[in-house]
This record gives sequence, structure tokens and C-alpha cells, in this order.
Amino acid sequence: MTLSISLTINGHRQDIAIDDPRVTLLDLLRERLDLTGTKKGCDRGQCGACTVLVDGRRINSCLSLAATLDGAAITTIEGLVEHDVLHPVQAAFIACDGFQCGYCTPGQIMSAVGLISEGHAGDDAERVRELMSGNLCRCGAYQGITQAVLEAQKVMAGNPAADISGRSAA
Ligand code: FES
Ligand code: FES
Repeated sequence: MTLSISLTINGHRQDIAIDDPRVTLLDLLRERLDLTGTKKGCDRGQCGACTVLVDGRRINSCLSLAATLDGAAITTIEGLVEHDVLHPVQAAFIACDGFQCGYCTPGQIMSAVGLISEGHAGDDAERVRELMSGNLCRCGAYQGITQAVLEAQKVMAGNPAADISGRSAA
């Protein structure tokens, strides 16, 4: 049975035929749409490597069935760069050494973007660590990751007109 869904992925609306209703959003992104920036770690909701935004909220794409997302807006790591300018969270990860091997990094960054737009973390490092705890890093780059989230948050707080892209809507 083939299902047809419509998704807006990184700002582009696409009609997608799905021939297996069990396909996850993660596999759809990676294997059908060539958006391989989103990583597969555990494939069971335990590592956060597959984090993307769905309608602005961060989710583990390995746990989400694509067929249930008809009409949703998806943002992946590929959707953050605009006109060759890094998103403030991406820039902060580089500035703060928020990665080593980089495998967890797309998920960390997407989670951080979602976390900042949730507006819950403030400038409390412990709170940021707690709210990012669903994203594991085997390299142990946690200190840089936390610092990057705090730095990006400061930059984005200075730009109150920014949307989820971190850039001014004007
Ligand atoms: S791959 Fe989805 S949480 Fe690990
Ligand atoms: S940077 Fe290597 S797993 Fe996080």
C-alpha cells in the first residue's frame, strides 16, 4: 500500500510517496531524500543523534513514523545554513570546540536550536546540561557543547526578531 504525504522540509514543500507505512522519518530523510546530515546512532531513541525539528519542536526522528507527519514542517541540520552563513548555534559549536569526531554534532545542534527556542534554559549551565541530556556524545565534548549553547543563546537573545533560524525575520 502506498501512502502519499506532504512535508515541508527545510522550507521546501514536497509530496512524497511512502510504500512502507513503517518507514521512520530518519530513514526517509537519509535514504530517500539524501539528507544524510541527520545521523543514525542507536535507532531506538536513546542517543539523540537523529534529532530534527518538527513544527519547531525537537524530536528523535528514529522514533517517528513518516506517515504520521503529513503536513508537518521539518528542519534538519541542512536547513540551518542560509546564504552560506552559519546559524548562530553552528558558529558557537565551532567557536567553543563543541565536538570532536562530529558524529553526534548535527543532533546536538538541532537539539540546541530547539532548546533555545523553547526559552527554558536561561544562562544556567546545569539546566542546559539537563535539557540536552537526551543527546549523548561518546567523545565527551560536553563542556564545549554546554558552552556553545550558552553562547548561542546570548547571541540570539540580542536579536529578538529572530525566528527559529536564528536570523532576523526582517
Ligand atoms: S538514532 Fe535516534 S535516538 Fe539514537
Ligand atoms: S563529538 Fe564524537 S560523539 Fe560527540
